[in-house]
Amino acid sequence: MIISKGELDQMEIRKKVQLATSLPGAKPICLVGTKSQAGVENLAPFSSITHLGSNPLLIGMVTRPDTVERHTLQNILDSKAWTLNHITEEFLQAAHQCSAKYPGGVSEFEATGLTAHYEAGGFAPFVAESPVKFSLELEEVIDIKSNGTKLIVGSVQQIILPDVALEASGHLDLSGLGCLASTALDTYFSIQEIGRLPYARPE
Ligand SMILES: Cc1cc2nc3c(=O)[nH]c(=O)nc-3n(C[C@H](O)[C@H](O)[C@H](O)COP(=O)(O)O)c2cc1C
Repeated sequence: MIISKGELDQMEIRKKVQLATSLPGAKPICLVGTKSQAGVENLAPFSSITHLGSNPLLIGMVTRPDTVERHTLQNILDSKAWTLNHITEEFLQAAHQCSAKYPGGVSEFEATGLTAHYEAGGFAPFVAESPVKFSLELEEVIDIKSNGTKLIVGSVQQIILPDVALEASGHLDLSGLGCLASTALDTYFSIQEIGRLPYARPE
């Protein structure tokens, strides 16, 4: 099967969204934790999360265009702070429910029963149920001119994880902790490490 650009242009929009969000492959799935200036906590699942650099440790995520209310984006612009909380099967239903369009005054923590956790001095809430979570400070927002989406770039401030999950080499055992991956906006996967290869050099 070959799908042409012309056929993509004609494709029914929901089908095209599913295809577009599956095409790059499985990605991490985290709950983004933020808080409004009025003190309302917010959670939303995001999968467009990627490492942008290690020194300093920068993480980017893509948000949809701000043509409608986007609580996550607005809270990040206002407070410059957010958390990313890896999702596991134990609280997947609640995490997925956080993608529902709750009004601005409603906290997804209250709506789903997930537990907010704060570290001293932190503005954005962590999700207590998440085994690996980290806080970020806003560095920049890059407008993607082609379609109005935005790349939100943050520097990692604090990482919370079980001691056993961090190997001496720096590897983080996400699969051992049950952290999930996702494609599209409804499909979740467990992840399984199949091996590690040495740093490749020309043969
Ligand atoms: C599996 C999954 C992945 C998602 N990934 C993203 C994403 O990367 N970027 C985004 O803007 N929205 C993403 N969404 C949609 C948001 O979670 C959804 O629009 C949410 O209502 C946003 O809430 P907010 O208005 O509180 O920010 C995803 C939803 C699901 C279910």
